[in-house]
Amino acid sequence: MSPFTIVLLTLVLVVMLFILVFAAVLLTPFALPLLAFGAPFIPSAGKTVERMLDAAGVGPTTRLLDLGSGDGRIPVAAAKRGARADGVEVNPWLVWVSRRRAQWFGVREHTMFKCGNLWTYDVAAYDVVTVYGLGPIMGKLEQKLLRELKPGTRVVSHAFHFPNWRPEREDRGVVLYVVPERSAAA
Ligand SMILES: C[S@@+](CC[C@H](N)C(=O)[O-])C[C@H]1O[C@@H](n2cnc3c(N)ncnc32)[C@H](O)[C@@H]1O
Repeated sequence: MSPFTIVLLTLVLVVMLFILVFAAVLLTPFALPLLAFGAPFIPSAGKTVERMLDAAGVGPTTRLLDLGSGDGRIPVAAAKRGARADGVEVNPWLVWVSRRRAQWFGVREHTMFKCGNLWTYDVAAYDVVTVYGLGPIMGKLEQKLLRELKPGTRVVSHAFHFPNWRPEREDRGVVLYVVPERSAAA
């Protein structure tokens, strides 16, 4: 093989590798949620985040969990109010961004971001749960929350409704639910 062919082949390989890495980075936000049966990354607007926290009465005594926490904006905003706030997120890039965001706003100690699947994450310890999901997952999510959360826990959904729960309040796409007693929900 001539030196020219070797250089050409190396160049082709490098370009192919670059395209593969680029495609993986671009596709991760869409492919991972699809594989994990969840919504792709579409961040809630800042004003909506504040409305979600207001709806649930988030303050210094709150223990909040954002299911599918994206870039961490909801837990960080809650922690800025003094809450202890966690997020579970399937996309490792977004978990990294979330931790940097928490650090930037000086609330790293009040937050925890777990890279994982919301369907296997134990939600029992929280008193506020936020979610910006997709219509088709809301029925399955309702069952999980009902099984694991204490009655009285506040659940705030951005944009989508749970099929069987009655909202306590609704304002411009922010829907507040309170987990009912198990007998009442049966
Ligand atoms: C619509 S975004 C909402 C992000 C953030 N909660 C907000 O309101 O700005 C949904 C997020 O859920 C994540 N996600 C989807 N399926 C998931 C799963 N099974 N487990 C954990 N995270 C998931 C996506 O990667 C995405 O970041």
